[in-house]
Amino acid sequence: MSKATTITEVELARIDTIVSEHSRQKWAMIPLLQKIQNEFGYIPPQSIPIIARSLGLFPSQVQGVISFYAQLYTQPRGRTVVRVCRGTACHVRGGKTILKLVKRRLGIEEGETSPDLEYTLETVACIGVCALAPNIVVSDHVHGHMNPKKVEQLLKNRDGGA
Ligand code: FES
Repeated sequence: MSKATTITEVELARIDTIVSEHSRQKWAMIPLLQKIQNEFGYIPPQSIPIIARSLGLFPSQVQGVISFYAQLYTQPRGRTVVRVCRGTACHVRGGKTILKLVKRRLGIEEGETSPDLEYTLETVACIGVCALAPNIVVSDHVHGHMNPKKVEQLLKNRDGGA
């Protein structure tokens, strides 16, 4: 479950300021989106019409660019990002069970962020260390040869999204 993406008047004013600095520079859309994401941790959906107006584009064009880049997000992300590998090597060595346990432990589904913004859960096609399968990545640190006990140990501070 994700936190509602409501923003304050102050945040909206800050978006206006950032956008006005890049006004009418179509080439600057990516740096502008990155700047907003760096400041808020994501790109508030409310900023999309503002960005579009400023660049002389349709909101759907801005949304299209955001959707194209996997590194741009329109939802808040957790402080800790957990990625569970769904690649073949991990799958045949129990990756499906590992994903189920991680979901249960974090209390969220893949693609979701916990309401306290502590965790985001994602799945990936292959981390590139198949010999260690099944793998999960927590805050960019790979944990190989995962099993139920290791999942419990790794996420011991978490119990069903508490
Ligand atoms: S399949 Fe999981 S690391 Fe390659």
